Amino acid sequence: MSEPTEFNDPGLMDKIVSLAKRRGFVFPSAEIYGGFRSTYDYGPLGVLMLRNVKNAWWRSMVQYRDDVVGLDAAILSPPAVWEASGHLGNFSDPMVDCRSCKERHRADHIGDTCPNCGSKDLTEARDFQLMFKTHAGPVENDGSVAYLRPETAQGMFINFLNVQTTTRKKPPFGIAQIGKSFRNEITPGNFVFRTREFEQMEMEFFVPPEEATTWYEYWIKARYEWYLDLGMPSERLRLRPHDADELSHYSAGTTDVEFAFPWGWGELEGIANRTDYDLKAHEAASGTKLQYFDQANDTWYTPYVIEPAAGATRTMMAFLIAAFQEDEIGGEARSVLRLDWRLAPYQVAVLPLSKKDELEPTAREVLASLQPHFQCDYDVTQSIGRRYRRQDEVGTPWCVTIDFDSLEDRCVTVRDRDTTEQVRVPIDGLVAELISRTKKA
Ligand code: GAP
Repeated sequence: MSEPTEFNDPGLMDKIVSLAKRRGFVFPSAEIYGGFRSTYDYGPLGVLMLRNVKNAWWRSMVQYRDDVVGLDAAILSPPAVWEASGHLGNFSDPMVDCRSCKERHRADHIGDTCPNCGSKDLTEARDFQLMFKTHAGPVENDGSVAYLRPETAQGMFINFLNVQTTTRKKPPFGIAQIGKSFRNEITPGNFVFRTREFEQMEMEFFVPPEEATTWYEYWIKARYEWYLDLGMPSERLRLRPHDADELSHYSAGTTDVEFAFPWGWGELEGIANRTDYDLKAHEAASGTKLQYFDQANDTWYTPYVIEPAAGATRTMMAFLIAAFQEDEIGGEARSVLRLDWRLAPYQVAVLPLSKKDELEPTAREVLASLQPHFQCDYDVTQSIGRRYRRQDEVGTPWCVTIDFDSLEDRCVTVRDRDTTEQVRVPIDGLVAELISRTKKA
């Protein structure tokens, strides 16, 4: 159970879930059929924001580094991978059934009473395998079994040699990957916090064994700072080292980056020292040597792995929660997402003051000049005040209004989401003005 924080707020999740649905961030999946077991679809704004979270991660982990390269490995994989990784043996959660109301729970998430009906009549805990099993091809037998990956990490380990030899990278170097993972969670919940299908952003950093502790500390700091840089308030974040009895089967040390969710502290990311567990396990099982030849010392060695593993969907939700505020503008209530411009679904909204045809050519000219630089919305419906509120509610940092004076003076009004300040800017200097604001923000 989560430890409460000063940010505990029982009503907040209802507001976030409602905003997410109403404005097209996240829809319950298969809703017209009554929904489907904690699965969600990312709508027009959600897909933009989720992509922004992933792009921000990719930029900091791959684009701005010369020691990390990317990968996009298959989601379906044969049992051999999961036998070697230890997931077939170890990747389970303890499950209990309530004999009274028949609900199932994770034994480690509840006390000794059923949270659904309060009964104390629970079964003994037993292990529940979390991987989704399927069959590849038309025949359903033991030989056709395949699994949906429960983490992206193994794709990086089994491609260690391919990547290392094709890129000629030397440890320390990393392989990064973003993609879907699947876990048959016993108790999914808290909106997209825990779902059975989710997206991960993981990086496996291969290092000489004697450098493992230094790189472990390095990545803990770097990953914590990534959230702060994107506007996450430091009071809502903490680093929590795992106790020895919590560590995964492969880990010699793990530290979580945790966020103060409205129900208490919850994990956003784990940074683990996976030692040489995975490469050695795949080497033993596959018979392929997964080592690095250190020419300077004329020796082969198995690199250690430091792994920052984050959830993309969970992180997007944390940024939504942290950004959500209700305030007043001129005595009128508004809800606003104070998102960093890099995460906001739209950076700019182009708003012709009236629907009258005369404004459209200039408004479209302004839109076209901004689109190569920013994801823009174009909205002509309702009063300008209503349109500003709509943009505030989805976190758009800048609104650009074209009015009848614009046709004469070739200037537009730029309104700032956070200060609501409005300034007149020449159309010819608009792109430069907005780019300069991204640098200040
Ligand atoms: N390769 C290591 C690994 O997968 P993990 O802590 O199990 O580690 C990493 O997962 C991150 O993936 C978590 O910190 C969380 O953000 C996200 N995650 C894990 N299970 C999830 C689920 N069921 N729903 C949403 N996100 C999940």
